[in-house]
Amino acid sequence: MSGIKIVTIGGGSSYTPELVEGFIKRYDELPVRELWLVDIPAGEKKLQIVGALAKRMVEKAGVPIDIRLTLDRRKALEGADFVTTQIRVGLLDARIKDETIPLKYGVIGQETNGPGGLFKGLRTIPVILDICRDMEELCPDAWLINFTNPAGMVTEAVLRYTSRRKVIGLCNVPIGMKMGVSSLLGVEQERVHIDFAGLNHMVFGLGVYVDGENVTAQVIDKLSGEQTGITMKNILDLGWDKDFLKALGILPCPYHRYYYQTKAMLEHELEEAQKNGTRAEVVKKVEEELFELYKDPELAIKPPQLELRGGAYYSEAACNLIDSLYNDRRDIQPVNVRNNGAIASIPDDSAVEVNCVITREGPIPLAVGDLPVPVRGLVQQIKSFERVAAEAAVTGDYHQALLAMTINPLVASDAIAKKLLDEMLEAHKEHLPQFFKPVS
Ligand code: G6P
Repeated sequence: MSGIKIVTIGGGSSYTPELVEGFIKRYDELPVRELWLVDIPAGEKKLQIVGALAKRMVEKAGVPIDIRLTLDRRKALEGADFVTTQIRVGLLDARIKDETIPLKYGVIGQETNGPGGLFKGLRTIPVILDICRDMEELCPDAWLINFTNPAGMVTEAVLRYTSRRKVIGLCNVPIGMKMGVSSLLGVEQERVHIDFAGLNHMVFGLGVYVDGENVTAQVIDKLSGEQTGITMKNILDLGWDKDFLKALGILPCPYHRYYYQTKAMLEHELEEAQKNGTRAEVVKKVEEELFELYKDPELAIKPPQLELRGGAYYSEAACNLIDSLYNDRRDIQPVNVRNNGAIASIPDDSAVEVNCVITREGPIPLAVGDLPVPVRGLVQQIKSFERVAAEAAVTGDYHQALLAMTINPLVASDAIAKKLLDEMLEAHKEHLPQFFKPVS
């Protein structure tokens, strides 16, 4: 059959119209025949609303993409070419707990990098591995493209605990950094190139170029001071200290604020939690408003309000990637893949976020050598955290989970780690069956 079959698991997400818009824009080069939006029974209402909007969007655009809605994941996966995952196990209520409980202990929760990221990983990894098992049976040749956070840890788990090699983790942070640099310098995005290397939400721009000319020092100079403009909607832009950035000499990503500006970020999160609620609570309201808009039968485009979400423009990254895989474009894109020696200080078999040449056979990571000494340790530490966390997610081993919590740089002591772990395990019990196996 001609045309591509795409399956989006977590299809009822408020982000789906982004993806649909991306496929519509690229229809000529990327002929999507069927787009299957899959969700779970708890997400059915949202699936119906988003699905109806998706159908109106393709109809208005006049492209023959067949939008299918289903709760039957296995049926959807049959014969798929690309499977994208954008799930949130436990929905936003679980994220509220991830962000709220740590604050009581003076720790930033953060849904990807801190204790929140650990718990999101513990809930999510078993479900993603289940999806991989279904894919082995129903669409073994399909690419798995995962947007689900924590994307680095999830990619690590797939590489380590399944035989699936056709897996790519994807994030909008690099694209956001590129957009930020282009507006900072006042040049078109296409002229900007950044040498990305590191891990998901722990990626650095080792070099920044405009038309091939190295402008890293210039960008660093412009970046320092208050409010730099390079951030995501979910991360406060505190600016960067001029001397620190100059000493660092490379471009940090917005998430580095949690590590280099921990105290100020924590104070901000505590203040925000008092005033407006945690980010998850804010997002819950934004989502409700978005779904009200999506219900409008007159609406047939992606509403601009979607850009209030931190993941805005993720479809740009997703569609560019699928386009390059399908059309063998051999362009360079930053994605999460098996390191294969690209970053010397990270094991070959671990997931890294690095520039890759995107070919029909898959991404080929571009070697960067070693990371600079001042950041190498932090990147390795986060990699260790991701590995231990992934192992805990698969085995349900309490001690591995305690190790992961304690070695996370955002958690200051073993005593706090243990209390936090115990309280969060209890709070998320319902979605962590691997930790609560009946004693036989
Ligand atoms: C960033 C990250 C995404 C994350 C999002 C959260 O853009 O790259 O991985 O999902 O922010 O945004 P939200 O609007 O849910 O706080």
